[in-house]
Amino acid sequence: MQERVQRIPLRHKVLIANALVVLVGAIFGTWITANVVSHNEGIRMVALAAGFALIGTVISVHINLRVIRAALKPLEDIVATAERVRNGDYSARTGADPMRDRELEQIVESFNSALDQVEIDRSQIKVLVNSVIAAQEDERKRIARELHDDTSQVLFAQLLRVSAMKLSDNPEIREMAESLEMMFAESMEAVRRLGHELRPPSLDDLGLLEATGALVQRMSERSGIEIAYVTSGVRERLDPAVELVLYRVAQEALTNMWKHAKATRASVSIRRTDHQVELAVDDNGRGFDINSENASDGKGLGLGLFGMQERVELVGGNLEIIGNRNPGTRVRASIPLNE
Ligand SMILES: Nc1ncnc2c1ncn2[C@@H]1O[C@H](COP(=O)(O)OP(=O)(O)O)[C@@H](O)[C@H]1O
Ligand SMILES: [Mg+2]
Repeated sequence: MQERVQRIPLRHKVLIANALVVLVGAIFGTWITANVVSHNEGIRMVALAAGFALIGTVISVHINLRVIRAALKPLEDIVATAERVRNGDYSARTGADPMRDRELEQIVESFNSALDQVEIDRSQIKVLVNSVIAAQEDERKRIARELHDDTSQVLFAQLLRVSAMKLSDNPEIREMAESLEMMFAESMEAVRRLGHELRPPSLDDLGLLEATGALVQRMSERSGIEIAYVTSGVRERLDPAVELVLYRVAQEALTNMWKHAKATRASVSIRRTDHQVELAVDDNGRGFDINSENASDGKGLGLGLFGMQERVELVGGNLEIIGNRNPGTRVRASIPLNE
């Protein structure tokens, strides 16, 4: 039955509905005229005709509206579905409707299968992004280890040799040895700092609080911006994956603050409650329009913000970026902790 109703095109539905109205009107009108008017001399034909016309028009308009509305409802459904998808509900689809027009039904089907494809593509992108993030972490770890085990050792060996040269009788050599010694010491410090940035050893050894504290201090020294650091409720070590994500969020948010915000003050807080751990980075800088960064206006969502979001979602958390706090920006990551 549904199938049959659907198969009737919209214009035929409208025609059938109108034909029915005319048919019923004609039969009913003739019956009234034959039975009521012929026995009742007092009724005036003009008034009767006007009454029929009025009733017929009202019924006809009503039925037409209902038929057309029912037939075109899929378009409203498509718009509503598109809106839900836009708001992040990627599983939203337009449902079936017996009154739906055949041609519109095809549009709905194509629309739904396009959404299926979008969902598949999205999950593939997610898998890809996850492996890129994992590969990036592995690579950072590897380079940090190499810097520590090889580069630093070589520099240290050179430093010892140069130090020995300082005992030379030749004052020129002694002077050169001294400046070389300083250069080697500086290089070692730079290599050490780079290694820490790539993969802070304190994160694995001492945990999130220590590593973030050291990060805050380093950032504050390099940028000259006062950064407050507050923690509460974190008594034990968290899951290493969660610690790494929160550390990377803090690192990116502070780097952004330094690079973009023109802030004079900032703060980092880490709070743990029974069910979640939350990291917030605030600054009092110029802020930004997160929607325009998101929009396809050529700038696009920066890799930093995007990476932060992906990392947080990967461990089941939620990232919130508020760019218009007037003044400044807040980045807040909250991650649920399952026992
Ligand atoms: N704390 C902030 N204050 C002001 N603008 C910011 C801040 N964080 C991010 N932005 C803006 O968002 C953009 C995207 O940031 P991001 O994704 O980290 O990319 P990148 O740092 O490489 O530019 C930045 O270019 C900047 O315009
Ligand atoms: Mg950035």
